[in-house]
Amino acid sequence: MLTNKRILLIIGGGIAAFKSLDLIRRLRDQGASVTPVMTKAAEEFVTPLSTSALAAQKVYRDLFDLTDEAEMGHIELSRAADLVVVAPATADLMAKMAHGHANDLASTLLMATDKRVLIAPAMNVRMWEHPATQRNLAMLRGDGVLIAGPDEGNMACGEYGPGRMSEVLDIIAAIDAALGDGPMKGRHVIVTSGPTHEPIDPVRYIANRSSGAQGTALAAALRDLGARVSFVTGPASVPPPAGVDVIRVETAAQMAEAVAAAHPADAAIFAAAVADWRVENASGSKMKKDGSGTAPALEFAENPDILAGVAQMGEGRPKLVVGFAAETDDVVANATAKRARKSCDWIVANDVSPETGIMGGHENRIVLITDDGAEEWPRLPKDEVARWLASRIATALGAG
Ligand code: CTP
Repeated sequence: MLTNKRILLIIGGGIAAFKSLDLIRRLRDQGASVTPVMTKAAEEFVTPLSTSALAAQKVYRDLFDLTDEAEMGHIELSRAADLVVVAPATADLMAKMAHGHANDLASTLLMATDKRVLIAPAMNVRMWEHPATQRNLAMLRGDGVLIAGPDEGNMACGEYGPGRMSEVLDIIAAIDAALGDGPMKGRHVIVTSGPTHEPIDPVRYIANRSSGAQGTALAAALRDLGARVSFVTGPASVPPPAGVDVIRVETAAQMAEAVAAAHPADAAIFAAAVADWRVENASGSKMKKDGSGTAPALEFAENPDILAGVAQMGEGRPKLVVGFAAETDDVVANATAKRARKSCDWIVANDVSPETGIMGGHENRIVLITDDGAEEWPRLPKDEVARWLASRIATALGAG
């Protein structure tokens, strides 16, 4: 519930603005009050009248409105909220935020606020993938702006891909997480998850069977304790949780880069099944059979060890660094050796022999390796394992 929480909702000019009306309604159903601000472009998509009616409040639209300024100046407006939400956050609004523009009411409020800002991006897939938008996104992340979405799917413009505004309930989960009072409030945790795909050529890749289920459950459990979660995920088969900052990557090298960009963090949890090697001689165009009957020889190069890199980073190292070990033999001995080799604080080890049904399944049976030795946990559903682990992480950070 969001009882008595005050949300300043900035509505940008995109087709997804229609979803903001539903967002207002649902926020109010949960007990929040919503003060809407509309950009000029937003008014092309939804009317100030319907926005105002649903919010049961005046809509703020103009930086130079003398009546508004007399009643509540824009500085005060930007601060009289618990959270500033931008939905939809268009490419233009994100660019303005990243570069500090203040040339209309929305951008001025975003510059003047002393509150946390959560954005729900929405735009055409090409605009989302454009290097300029991705640069702006990275800057906003660095500034501590919370990001909800975007989702992947069919878009109003007829294209398919990432760029669709998150579903309203997912934005509300993100708002809930941002305003939550859990024990991990104010802590930042990086979680890696899923497999990586290492290309052989533009249509083929090397992957593994990780579904991303355990990393996803862990990110959700940490979010539920109030943590801010940067969720760096490879192409997983389960959808990422709502209310966390999702950074999608494909290769181990991209995962390493995304993790480096997500620092500083209080804890970093490496649940991803990262490919140990990449194809060094990957082809830029599709490899063809040449009729000779000989298969192409792939050459491999070792990928950077992301976990070891963070565990051994010296200054700026997260207080708690946790690795996972998927083993098929001598689980405790191998995992204990891995913990020492990689210099991480804990290893969450499990037996992934096919007969256990753990890889790709719904349950997990882990051994937690810490300074105090090996602790065997019972076989539990993956989300239960996640809750136990999240609570142990909170305790280790002094937030339990
Ligand atoms: N890991 C990582 N980056 C890599 C490889 C692994 O961050 N390039 C992390 C995984 O996310 C996991 C842990 O390291 O938390 C263990 O991964 P694993 O592949 O089992 O470790 P290896 O050192 O490759 O050990 P081995 O191949 O002997 O099993």
